[in-house]
Amino acid sequence: MRFTVAIDGPAAAGKGTISRAVAAHFGFAHLDTGLLYRAVGARMLDGLDPVEAARTLSAGDLGRSDLRRPDVAQAASRVAAIPEVRAALVAFQRGFAGREGGAVLDGRDIGTVICPDAAVKLFVTASDLVRAGRRHRELVETGVETGFDEVLAEMRERDARDSARAEAPLRPAGDAVVIDTTELSIEAAVAAAIARVEAQLATVPRG
Ligand code: DC
Repeated sequence: MRFTVAIDGPAAAGKGTISRAVAAHFGFAHLDTGLLYRAVGARMLDGLDPVEAARTLSAGDLGRSDLRRPDVAQAASRVAAIPEVRAALVAFQRGFAGREGGAVLDGRDIGTVICPDAAVKLFVTASDLVRAGRRHRELVETGVETGFDEVLAEMRERDARDSARAEAPLRPAGDAVVIDTTELSIEAAVAAAIARVEAQLATVPRG
């Protein structure tokens, strides 16, 4: 069975947590597509041309330990605005989405560009203050010394760039179900996502 769940949204809205929970619940494979852009961004910071970095990306690049750093996040957002970088990453993402047994992909353009025919499309969002609070806590817990204001400013800058770019900007697909996690617990958000997938799975003929 092929069954694709597309989960998009801005940084720290909870789409990663929801994606992992949905994938685990249904036994689907999961791809965090932000990691692809982060790996290209990290290679650019190493001195590589970003288009070349995207075209030669390997599994090892995705395992780098520095991909969660704030400077790598900013670099990811910058390389993500380059059409040739995005083009180099399309085939891998579509191949992953079409694998047997179901797949969950999370990112910015999954429901709009990568998988416009996905069985389920979710757009996970939250206020920027709440998102910055979550990201700040996450960074502090992993030992990164940073202030809330700095995290908020960086997040706003990244969201603005991701939403304003000409190629595959961050926006909900017309047929996406929006989950706003500003005042929703993670359990409630996950339950809403699972219910949406379950309802759609019930319409798939079983062989
Ligand atoms: O989800 P994330 O924060 O790890 O993503 C890092 C950056 O990568 C994000 O600011 C924009 C870019 N990105 C993208 O343009 N398209 C995607 N499908 C996923 C991420």
